[in-house]
Amino acid sequence: MRPEWEGIVELGSREADLIDQIDFNRLPQHVAIIMDGNGRWARQRNLPRIEGHRAGAKSVQEVVETAARLRISYLTLFAFSKENWKRPKQEINTLWHLLEEYARSRENVLLKNDLRLKVIGEREGIPQRVRRELEKLERLSADGQRMTILLALNYGGRAEIVQACRKLLSQAELKPDEIDENTFAQYLYTPGIPDPDLLIRTSGELRISNFLLWQMAYTEFWITPVLWPDFRKVHFLEAIVDYQRRERRFGGIGSN
Ligand code: IPE
Ligand code: IPE
Ligand code: MG
Repeated sequence: MRPEWEGIVELGSREADLIDQIDFNRLPQHVAIIMDGNGRWARQRNLPRIEGHRAGAKSVQEVVETAARLRISYLTLFAFSKENWKRPKQEINTLWHLLEEYARSRENVLLKNDLRLKVIGEREGIPQRVRRELEKLERLSADGQRMTILLALNYGGRAEIVQACRKLLSQAELKPDEIDENTFAQYLYTPGIPDPDLLIRTSGELRISNFLLWQMAYTEFWITPVLWPDFRKVHFLEAIVDYQRRERRFGGIGSN
C-alpha cells in the first residue's frame, strides 16, 4: 500500500484493495457530490430529519479527507438548493444552524491541510450569520493549494445561468457574436474551474435536481443507494475505481 494511506486504511481491507486498483495518473480532477438521503436515514431510525443532517457531517469529513489524500483538485458538495426553501421552516432553520456550527469548527482543518473553501450559490439569500462565518473561512483559506472545496449553498443551476446572463449584460461590452461558450462560462460561479469529471449522488435518486446544469454537460454519473450519513471512504473509492473503467467519448467515437 502507498505510504500516505498507512494508518488511514487497514492493510488487507476493501479500502486498501480499491486503492491498489486506482490509477493515480488518471484521477478525476473535479468530483461533485449530491449529498442526499439524510431524511430517509433518520426516518429509518425513528429520529427527526435533522438528526440525519447532523449525522451527515461525518460523511463530509471522510470525503474531504479521502479526496485530499487522493490529490483531487476540486470537490463540490451540494448542501442546500434554492428549492430546499420549500421545506418546513424548522428543518430549514436547524439546517442553517448546523451549517453555521460546521463552518465555525472548520478553520483549523482547512488551514492545517492547505485546503481552500469557496461558496457557490446565491449569497444574498444565505442567512447573515452563516454567510459571515463562511466568508471569513473563504478569506482565511484563500491560499489553500492542496484542494478546493466548493460548497454549493442556496444553489440552483438555472438561477446560476440567469445570473451569468445578467452579469454578462451589465459588465461586458460584447457583441452577440463575440459571446462563445468559454466567455459565457466566465460569468458562472465557477470561472477557471474545470467541469466536474464525476458526479456522485447518494440515496439512489436518478436525477440531477438542478445541480451544475451547465458544468455537467459531459460529467460521468455514479449513483449509489447508500444514504449520505452512511457514505464512507470505501464508497468514494468505489466511485473512483468505477469512473476509471469508463470510456469518456465527449461525442467522439472512442478507442474501440
Ligand atoms: C439531503 O438529504 C440534504 C439536503 C437536501 C439538505 P434530504 O434531506 O434530501 O434527505 P431525503 O432525500 O429526504 O432522504
Ligand atoms: C438535492 O437533494 C439537494 C441537496 C442535496 C442539497 P434534494 O433532496 O433537495 O433533491 P430532490 O428534491 O429529491 O430532487
Ligand atoms: Mg433528498
